[in-house]
Amino acid sequence: MFRSLATPETPAIGIEVDGRRIACAPGENLAAVLLRAGFGPFRSTPVSGAPRMPYCMMGVCFDCLAVVDGVPNSQTCLTAVADGMTVRRQEGASAAAFLAAEGLADE
Ligand code: FES
Repeated sequence: MFRSLATPETPAIGIEVDGRRIACAPGENLAAVLLRAGFGPFRSTPVSGAPRMPYCMMGVCFDCLAVVDGVPNSQTCLTAVADGMTVRRQEGASAAAFLAAEGLADE
């Protein structure tokens, strides 16, 4: 369904997605790379746990959120890949756990 526009001359980089290394081209859109690799769902909702995947691909719906380089709630559709980037599925309210761990949660 999805294919890369990279040519054989395009340099390859790699990202790690849930422990799996995926080859891509520098600057490619992260959500597009993940969709091409068959990654999904990207996250689950905090209340019901319903699965979510990218919908708008332009930063509006927030259904593409994932944990990117340890940062939850990263909009993958607005993120360019970088060599060595790590991506994890975002389960439920992991952002709240991240903020609490960083001492940034509201008291
Ligand atoms: S796909 Fe809608 S915000 Fe990323």
